Amino acid sequence: MNRRTIQDGVYWMGAVDWDRRLFDSLIPLPDGTSYNAYLVQGKEKVALLDTVDPAMAETLMEQLADVPKLDYIVSHHAEQDHSGSIGLVLEKYPDAKVMCTPKAKDILIDLLAIPEEAFVTVSDGEQLALGGKTLTFVHTPWVHWPETMVTYLEEDRILFSCDFLGSHIATSDLYVTDEGRTKEAAKRYFAEIMAPFRNQIEKNLEKLKSYDMQIIAPSHGQLYDRPAFIIDLYKEWASGPPQNLVVIPHVSMHGSTKKMVDHLASTLVDKGVRVELFDLAVTDIGKLAMTLLDAGTVVVGTPTVLAGPHPMAAYATLLANALRPKVRFLSIIGSYSWGGKTVDTLAGMIPNLKVEVLEPVLCKGLPKEEDLKALDQLAATIAQKHAEHHLS
Ligand code: FEO
Repeated sequence: MNRRTIQDGVYWMGAVDWDRRLFDSLIPLPDGTSYNAYLVQGKEKVALLDTVDPAMAETLMEQLADVPKLDYIVSHHAEQDHSGSIGLVLEKYPDAKVMCTPKAKDILIDLLAIPEEAFVTVSDGEQLALGGKTLTFVHTPWVHWPETMVTYLEEDRILFSCDFLGSHIATSDLYVTDEGRTKEAAKRYFAEIMAPFRNQIEKNLEKLKSYDMQIIAPSHGQLYDRPAFIIDLYKEWASGPPQNLVVIPHVSMHGSTKKMVDHLASTLVDKGVRVELFDLAVTDIGKLAMTLLDAGTVVVGTPTVLAGPHPMAAYATLLANALRPKVRFLSIIGSYSWGGKTVDTLAGMIPNLKVEVLEPVLCKGLPKEEDLKALDQLAATIAQKHAEHHLS
């Protein structure tokens, strides 16, 4: 794709990665993604804001073919999908300076072996005048890594937010055209990437409140010409209360655990509690992460295998612990044949979750009358807890 004009002297310079289906060898990308770099041309100086994933460096270099001079490469974030082509850009413009936070400088040297003399570090709130275009650098740690910052372009009222406020979506639309579709992509992105840093997100949104934004230009997905759309969503996802919803990630080897899951789910629905079931053997882990954002309770369904939880249940539990959802209650249900340490093992995997653990229900072999009663009791407890916490 060619360079695209945002305002006079401000251009989108990125690459749309239509076919990428996995990020960080972990995160599913059903809609692909983009790596958005931007060029800001002042009367005296020219700055490139971020680069692109090295796999698509050629696309960026083609867009730079008719840019004779580059004074600055602003690196908002050291992760390679934005920084990985800095070396190549520096080869073309050896006098350009890499502008970043002090923390980013250290990481960029570690990850990309960029020579130290190429860097100029910027302090929080520092400005850079390009001639009729003034960049203000705002340190915004932990969106996504500790070194992240954003840039505000004063004259055009554009916030270049890098990972912050982004979405994984490949499209030829420069701006959001379908807010429903973008909301889905941005929620998935938030759940997988931003959720663990909810507290920092709130602080950074507060910090950016004083900037009058006309456009938000992230480094993944489309630009927002209605900034309130994404800012309001981030506020809701970061600090809104969980819902009257039970998420049940589960796996079953021979059907006993599945019977328990189905019984619990239908009892919960009878009691007015919404449920979402995810069979971990086939589920899209990103969809599970999105649903965890809303969950009031998580119930992990797992058989006992090799004396512990099924590895797929262990994986989902580890993931939930890393994503730190706002979930308030957690329980475990499942079937076993000859004992084991399923509950202890899973309970030891969730130190990050501030949850109340509700009495697990484990049964020997097929669930029997007393096991189904125990599941009914668990459903009643969950419904009561949700009501007490006013989850809706
Ligand atoms: Fe888009 Fe944290 O990199």
